[in-house]
Amino acid sequence: MPYPSSLQPSLARVAATRAARRQQQIPRLSLEAKAELIQGYHPDFRPGSRRPLRIGPNAGDPVPPELADLLEAYSRLDPDRFDLSEPDADVDVLAIGGGGAGTSAALLAHLNGARVLLATKLRHGDSNTIMAEGGIAAATHRHDSPTLHFLDTMGGGRFENDPQLVKVLVHDAPLVVEWLTELGVMFDRAEDGSHICSLAGGHSRRRVHSCKDYSGLEMMRVLRDELRTRQVPVLEFSPLVELLVDDQGQCAGAVLSQFDTGRYLVVRARATILATGGIGRLHVQGFPTTNHFGATADGLVVGYRAGARLLHMDAIQFHPTGAAWPPQMLGWLLTEALRGTGVHLVNRHGERFINEMETRDCTSSAILREVDGRGNGLETPAGTRGVWLDTPMIDLLHGPGTLVRLFAGIVHRFQAYGIDPRQEPLLVYPTQHYQNGGLRIDAWGRTAVPNLYVAGEASGGVQGRNRLGGNSLLDIFVFGRRAGQHAAEHARGVQLGRLGLEHVRRYHEQVHALGVPPEYTSPLLLPNYTRRHERQAPVGGVA
Ligand code: FUM
Repeated sequence: MPYPSSLQPSLARVAATRAARRQQQIPRLSLEAKAELIQGYHPDFRPGSRRPLRIGPNAGDPVPPELADLLEAYSRLDPDRFDLSEPDADVDVLAIGGGGAGTSAALLAHLNGARVLLATKLRHGDSNTIMAEGGIAAATHRHDSPTLHFLDTMGGGRFENDPQLVKVLVHDAPLVVEWLTELGVMFDRAEDGSHICSLAGGHSRRRVHSCKDYSGLEMMRVLRDELRTRQVPVLEFSPLVELLVDDQGQCAGAVLSQFDTGRYLVVRARATILATGGIGRLHVQGFPTTNHFGATADGLVVGYRAGARLLHMDAIQFHPTGAAWPPQMLGWLLTEALRGTGVHLVNRHGERFINEMETRDCTSSAILREVDGRGNGLETPAGTRGVWLDTPMIDLLHGPGTLVRLFAGIVHRFQAYGIDPRQEPLLVYPTQHYQNGGLRIDAWGRTAVPNLYVAGEASGGVQGRNRLGGNSLLDIFVFGRRAGQHAAEHARGVQLGRLGLEHVRRYHEQVHALGVPPEYTSPLLLPNYTRRHERQAPVGGVA
């Protein structure tokens, strides 16, 4: 759908200011100015954006109400009636989640001698990993170092990251890029064969290794092949419904549900790795999302019920540049690598308003200030609002053909709707992208629940209150690999007791005491778009 006539005068102004903007330098904000901007405009700070949890290990901590409703709901299973006497499978390591974290965990557990099962809600690979465009951050170049990467990551996270986890993240990063390269990932390379690296907000060096603008898809292609080649069993369309905890208080596997038959499967496991990803499909505060269809917080809910603690769950990442037009693409990710390659953000008058390499919390807040606070944004006939991401800058700066060479996916998608990003800017608005927090882990992905590991976006502590671009593909592989390796070794010494759901029974007593109606169950498993308008708070898991 080409741009409507109401946006044409602004498009003309953007084109008219393009050449002059090329020379313009916008200084980075001071720490004080940044804090003021974020507190004034970031959605996390809006009234009503959080509420205290009333039950569980984090009672009293603020979380988005959309998540709190799911955490304060009943299990889909009745613990008094569910039969656990004959498990359907018995493995050393159960990895749950078919994205990069779960797949790398399953692979490393297998390579370390464990009998592994990978279970996933949709098809193997359906995950936020394949949605990741920009790339993976690692200090591999001579002018860079893990120490600089560490400092940038801590600063980006507002210094609330767990420093031990960040240390592991940045030190393993070059190793992970080498590992992916050896497995066959086709990274972008210069003529001399070295990896081309781009810049992302908050990084002081060019260190994001990309595969055009479908980096995560390329990594997932290779990893999935590797798992298949090694014949690691994969169970698709089988979402996690509950964790099992034995009579000694140890995690002992999980109950999965089969979408096609509706049957439950009991999997007994000496070690369980949750790699269930994010919560974008909860659409916090009604924001659109970059996330895949299965991002419904399942692992967080189930892990929390089993006693694992959450961290920083009130810190949601809104990616600055989600598509705001055409309506069919609402919320779709427009990679930060565009800005890292020189694309400007401009308001309706064709003026820049922020240094595009600020961290995401800051850049998103600046867009919201421009649109909501200063009235300098645009509104479309569909009611979406935004500012311009001036994509024609790329060919102006780097020569004709560059945009299509580096960002083939984005050009292709918009051309399908009659918009040519080589000639016209794209309308953008912040979109829910990532949960900065999650279930608390240590450097091997262990939680406080014995035998329970978490890796990737479902984990908390690595990213602090705001993740930097490229650190998510890194996080999933660093901690997926570590969790898989550790779980395989650990599983050898585990003696499981009687399988049980006693923790669910106890949790139900607390939910009941809150007066939650019995039909409110979680995990959600799939977003419920058809009945969204019928819901009243709490929305959790209405089937
Ligand atoms: O902008 C992006 O390509 C997103 C990358 C990330 O979230 O790490």
